Order: sequence, then structure tokens, then C-alpha cells
Amino acid sequence: MVFNRSKLSAMKVTVQSKSGVETFDGGDDENLLYAGLRSGLGLPYECGTGTCGTCRARVIEGDVSIAWQEAPGLAFVKRDKNEVLLCQAHARGDCTIRVPTKVEPIGEALPRPANFRGTIDRVERLTHDVVEFDVLLDRPMSFLAGQFVAMSCEDVVGARAYSMVNYDESTDRLVFVVKRKPSGRFSDWLFEHNISGTQLRLFGPLGRATFRPDEQKNFLCIAGGSGVAGMMAIAAQATRNGYLEHNTGHIFFGVRTLDDCFYTREFADYVRRSNGSLVVTIALSNEAAPQERHPDFPEIRLASGFVHEVAAREMAGNYENMVGFVAGPPPMVDGALRMLIMEARLPAQFIRYDKFG
Ligand SMILES: Cc1cc2nc3c(=O)[nH]c(=O)nc-3n(C[C@H](O)[C@H](O)[C@H](O)COP(=O)(O)OP(=O)(O)OC[C@H]3O[C@@H](n4cnc5c(N)ncnc54)[C@H](O)[C@@H]3O)c2cc1C
Ligand code: FES
Repeated sequence: MVFNRSKLSAMKVTVQSKSGVETFDGGDDENLLYAGLRSGLGLPYECGTGTCGTCRARVIEGDVSIAWQEAPGLAFVKRDKNEVLLCQAHARGDCTIRVPTKVEPIGEALPRPANFRGTIDRVERLTHDVVEFDVLLDRPMSFLAGQFVAMSCEDVVGARAYSMVNYDESTDRLVFVVKRKPSGRFSDWLFEHNISGTQLRLFGPLGRATFRPDEQKNFLCIAGGSGVAGMMAIAAQATRNGYLEHNTGHIFFGVRTLDDCFYTREFADYVRRSNGSLVVTIALSNEAAPQERHPDFPEIRLASGFVHEVAAREMAGNYENMVGFVAGPPPMVDGALRMLIMEARLPAQFIRYDKFG
């Protein structure tokens, strides 16, 4: 994928959707999803990286090439009907596509995504299989807590989605946390090389699972493993500007064992600053919690069990005026979504999630 703006030639992409007809300039080597979003068109997507199938569209006319022929999201498209994934499709000339949903302009509520270049600036191992690193951008990015970027480097084919851990209205330093996936190409690259100083390409900010302080809601976060990234950004924003003086926050963070925990110091600090309005519980799935509170950080509660089950147990009947955030591995996210729909009975617009798979 090449993000060099100077190489983009004018190719007209026409989008037919339930909202009418729109056009945008499809970049030379930029996929149709990113080119459309960059021009301000709210095309449908979730992962932005080939796995979920949400960006499905039909090519009505013109030549479109596919970057990743084995993308798992292709399981959701009808190839014999000329359907493609917009996040894996590149225009090779003027073309017309049809999207099976409404396509409205992105509007003011979400920052408009753009291409950035960045340099890995600080790398720190948090546990045996979790690494945190900073990326210094070529210019500041504005984003909302809970958003992510699509990141790529020269050494690994394709882009990967990573959620921002830090939050600032506009910043040129982004913090990421990545859990190693067995035989995962990008995470292997992160763990096995000296990545400090490496140049990256980023596209973002992406994602609609965002914290919106103006909603003035109590929030419930359920995260598995590195799914905690976006929850850290939400906690960072919520502990500023007095938000937790009027609302409560509950964060449930699922890991296998106490040794797999990270961000405990940071969470303890957020809890202390919240004067009791923020409650953080670490759920241990593979061992019994040794006690009710974290041995080093008594501000943090410990519990045993899968994180969504712990959340259901602890939150039962306490879902008033609530927005729910879920992120992590797909089976964990599915369990948490079931709980938020069936038990918490939150309306769909107040359930926001990212599936990391
Ligand atoms: C919205 C979202 C936010 C996420 N945030 C985080 C986070 O904060 N921290 C974290 O640890 N993980 C996060 N993930 C998961 C992350 O994007 C990666 O899937 C994970 O790190 C494993 O990547 P890998 O390269 O190691 O594994 P691999 O199995 O090699 O690749 C996994 C993913 O990379 C992409 N991919 C693989 N091969 C290709 C190819 N040839 N061409 C194009 N694309 C390809 C696909 O999206 C695939 O699902 C997030 C996922 C999503 C969808
Ligand atoms: S957004 Fe394209 S497959 Fe998920």
C-alpha cells in the first residue's frame, strides 16, 4: 500500500447507496475505503483491515483490484456477484460501486481520517507477551477516546488496526499496546526486532466505538487483553474535566492470571483521582483471585472468571443511564455483547465495540 499523496492520480469513484449517489477521488494505490473516508464519505466499515466483512460493496462498472485475496472478510461477499471488500479494493480507473447501506457525509461528530507517517519512539515490554510503544507522528492527529488507526510498515504485508491508549484532543504522540498473537506476522515483527526508530504509515483516526462526554452517561467498559487499550483512553478522558463528578465508570479488565496484568498502576491512579466514581475490576480467567484487592494496588478489585461473567455478576441491576464499551478477542466480545443486550438491556446506540479479530 502506498500513501504518497503526490502519486495519486484522479480516478472518479461513484458510490450508489440508499442515501443516493456520491463521488470521490480514488487514490492510485489507496484502497477504496480509505480514499472514500479521507474525502469525507461515511462508508461502512468496522475493522478497516479485511476481517469483518462490513465494508462489502458491489462493483457495478470499472476495474478494481484486490490486495489480499485470502482476507477472512471475503467470506461475507458474493464474489460471483462482483462483490468486494472496500478496505482491500483498489480502483484501477474510473469505477462505480454499490453499497448496501446508507452512506452519509462523516459530519462534524467524528474527526475525518487522513494518512500520516510516524516513527516508533519508545518501546516497553509490559508482560511476557504485551508490548507498549509510542509513535511520533509527522503532524498532530485529532481523535476521540476509543478510536484506532490502521498501521503498516515496510516489513509486513497489509495494515493492522491498533487502538490509541492515550487521549488528547490533538497530539503528535500516540501510544499503543499490542498483545503477541502466536505466529501473528505484525506482532512477531514487533517482538522479534529492534523496532525503535522504524518508520510507519498510519491511516486514521478510525472507529465509532467512541466515548462522547456530552452524552453524560455512566460508562461500563469490558475488555479482554489488549482490548483495554481504548478503555485506557476513555479512563484518561473521563478523569479530566469533572466528568466523574456527575457520572460513574466501571471498567472490567480480563486477563488469564495476575502475572498477565498490566496498566495496574495507571488504573489505580485513575481510581484515586475519581473519588470513588470509577471502579476497576481485574477478572482472572485461569486462576482464582488470591484476594479481593490487588496485592500492590488496593484501589483495584480482583475477581475470578471470564470478564463478561464477572461484569454481569458485579453489575446486576445497576445499568441506569449507561453506555457500554467492549473490546478484545471475538469470543469475549460476543459474550459481553450478549450480556449487554440480554441482561443490561442497553439500547443498540449505547453499545459500542471493537472485535480484535
Ligand atoms: C478495531 C481494532 C482494534 C484493534 N486494536 C488492537 C490493540 O489495541 N492491540 C492489539 O494487540 N490488537 C488490536 N487489534 C488486533 C490487531 O489488529 C491484529 O489483528 C493483531 O495484533 C494480530 O496481528 P498479527 O499481524 O500479529 O497477526 P496476523 O494473523 O498475521 O494478522 C492479523 C490481521 O492482520 C491483517 N492481515 C493479515 N495478513 C494480511 C495481508 N496479507 N494483507 C492485509 N492484511 C492482513 C488482518 O486484519 C488480520 O486479521 C485490533 C483489531 C481491530 C479490528
Ligand atoms: S472493514 Fe473491510 S473487512 Fe472489516
